[in-house]
Amino acid sequence: MADEIKKEAPQKFKVTIDNISIEVDPGTTILQAARMIGGDVTPPAMCYYTPLQGSGGKCRTCLVEVSKGSEKDPRPMPKLVASCRTTVMDGMEVKNITSDRVLNARAGVVEFLLLNHPLDCPICDQAGECHLQDLSYEHGKAGTRYEFKKRTFKPHNLGPYIQLHMTRCILCYRCVFTADQVTNKRQHGVLDRGDHAQIATYIEKSLDNDFIGNVIDVCPVGALTDKTFRFKNRVWFTKPVDAHRNCDKCCGKVTLWRRGDEVLRVTARKDQWGEIQSYDGKTGWICNECRFEKKNVSDWVIEGPTAVPRHSVIGVNHYQRLEQPKETIPAVIGRQPKLLMDIHEVSDVNQPGVDLSKIPGPATGAVFNQKHLGNGKKEQE
Ligand code: SF4
Ligand code: SF4
Ligand code: FES
Repeated sequence: MADEIKKEAPQKFKVTIDNISIEVDPGTTILQAARMIGGDVTPPAMCYYTPLQGSGGKCRTCLVEVSKGSEKDPRPMPKLVASCRTTVMDGMEVKNITSDRVLNARAGVVEFLLLNHPLDCPICDQAGECHLQDLSYEHGKAGTRYEFKKRTFKPHNLGPYIQLHMTRCILCYRCVFTADQVTNKRQHGVLDRGDHAQIATYIEKSLDNDFIGNVIDVCPVGALTDKTFRFKNRVWFTKPVDAHRNCDKCCGKVTLWRRGDEVLRVTARKDQWGEIQSYDGKTGWICNECRFEKKNVSDWVIEGPTAVPRHSVIGVNHYQRLEQPKETIPAVIGRQPKLLMDIHEVSDVNQPGVDLSKIPGPATGAVFNQKHLGNGKKEQE
């Protein structure tokens, strides 16, 4: 009897996302299946966060089109669905980047997310590792149709470690779930509703629970920032290294963001989706002591450079070897193309001693070697 039940139980569901098929366990969401495939077919996710129960379903950035419901019921789903909350069916077919409806809808979602968002990137600590920046770059439009004043908020003090910039918050609720599920008492939440909704403590309270620093790591934007790091550096100037220490409160496995010998910031280690990594099935949340108080290299055992698994400006600092693709243009056109020449070798404009301001108009080759040079070539006149 048990054998019969075993035979009847579906083993795997086949799902096809953007023409790529994969077999997954029943109960897997479309987003998780897409992540298993990886690359561009993976929808962006601003509110879903695997380690946090109940997360997802808020931001709508992960919308996809289900063009075939399942093998048994092949009708398409009439509306776009949130891939983080929709589980796969056997034979399901999903369109993400191959669907114009999805790309249009996502552009609309980005426009809404940015309606009240400030132009803070140049001074925002999240810049360079901001999921909203990536999302805007990939799916946003250059302008906005919004004509009203953006929302502003009174600064709200969240205590010694965490600075809230409410104007940047996209109300994804991740920090609320984190405080609920990781700390022993949640002291903040989303206050009010509609366009008055905001992250706040009800009466001015500090967020000082031992594990509350993790809200900084889960925040997809620069709304919750680390007071011990803010404005100290741009993340792309820092070198992340993996390090650990024996900690009796947390796993002690972190990323140190260093500049020279200085440890500017300590964070939990994140995976390619920007989520905190797990160790032996447990999420690697880190405690406030590791995060905010251990800022000396001597506090840590350094393991080596952090692999940055996302497309990121941070990864640029870590090229081990840059391989140039094979150049075929000279073979095709029979000479070096001018645009690929080393301008420093062929142009006197770049020689020291040249006073470009003395050249009236553009410094073209026609005028350059004849006169107006401050480097002695005037004699050629
Ligand atoms: S949260 Fe992201 S998009 Fe917003 S200002 Fe900061 S870096 Fe820019
Ligand atoms: S503060 Fe950050 S984590 Fe919290 S709801 Fe806003 S965007 Fe999400
Ligand atoms: S990630 Fe799915 S709705 Fe936000």
